[in-house]
Amino acid sequence: MKVKTENGRRDMRALWFEAGKLTMIDQRSLPHQLRTVDYETCDEVAAAIKDMVTRGAPSIGAAAAYGICLAALKGEDLEDAAARMKAARPTANDLFYAVDHMMDRLAAGDDPVQAAEGYTDSIIEKCRMIGEHGGRIIQDGFRIMTHCNAGALATVDHGTALAPIRQAFQDGKSIFVYASETRPRLQGAQLTAWELNQEDIPHSIIVDGASGHFLRQGVDMVIVGADRIVANGDFANKIGTYEKAVLAKELGIPFYVAAPVSTFDFEMARGEDIPIEERSEEEVTVVAGNLITPSGSKALNPAFDYTPARYVTAFITELGLLKPEDISRLRRD
Ligand code: MRU
Repeated sequence: MKVKTENGRRDMRALWFEAGKLTMIDQRSLPHQLRTVDYETCDEVAAAIKDMVTRGAPSIGAAAAYGICLAALKGEDLEDAAARMKAARPTANDLFYAVDHMMDRLAAGDDPVQAAEGYTDSIIEKCRMIGEHGGRIIQDGFRIMTHCNAGALATVDHGTALAPIRQAFQDGKSIFVYASETRPRLQGAQLTAWELNQEDIPHSIIVDGASGHFLRQGVDMVIVGADRIVANGDFANKIGTYEKAVLAKELGIPFYVAAPVSTFDFEMARGEDIPIEERSEEEVTVVAGNLITPSGSKALNPAFDYTPARYVTAFITELGLLKPEDISRLRRD
């Protein structure tokens, strides 16, 4: 992704490995401060994923790959390290996919750093291809709604939902993005808006409850990312995705889900089976350090919801556009 500096713009990834350390942009500090944090052990990386220093399914996967790499370099028991890493967060399939991929590569005798770099480079390339395929379906003048952050921060580079948007903008198309703020962690307001700002892509932040209002006023397409897409085409994404999908269908607006094949869980049959992460009450009740709710009131905070396949117009993947019914063929291939 491009990041604005005093001398113009420079390329930056959400995370990278250098001199035995994994460096991550601390996504909790954005949009006000662009700072990085270094990690030298597998357990530190697992804690950073849990604390959402980095987040978004493909970035979680890449961070986990480097975490396993660090465990291997330090001679740790790899089965134990893999189990601890997989316990960091429950919903994003990429975490499990990346750890299993690393375990296979290490068992085959691959160099740990090369294996983790190879995994991350392949994710970046897949996201670039998602941008190419998805960019073609965005027409000049389109108003596009997205939710949460499925940009470069969430995928190391390019993005999933934001990759087609970036591509269309680079191709000179006039587009406008509605970024819903994504309570309670505000990934839309803080991270998607930051990324769009860095590249001067026209956008406005809207509160989550305004989605229906703007969808009815005239949105041409919705594009979101995914944390897990299961065998029947149901998928989990950030809480609040389901209602946008239902409204889009009601209003006849195409609803696209952009994700690499590493996000597909072919073993899981239905959306109901996807484990949904429950996060702390404080994420809901405390805003900028202040309790905003009555002290006796409890809060519920599911981080994701699942959307049935019937609401999906198509999945935008590195292989091109897929319909939910194509997933069984993809699994066979
Ligand atoms: O809780 P988060 O911020 O990790 O949730 C992220 C999302 O829900 C994204 O939309 C999803 O991972 C797709 S990112 C390419």
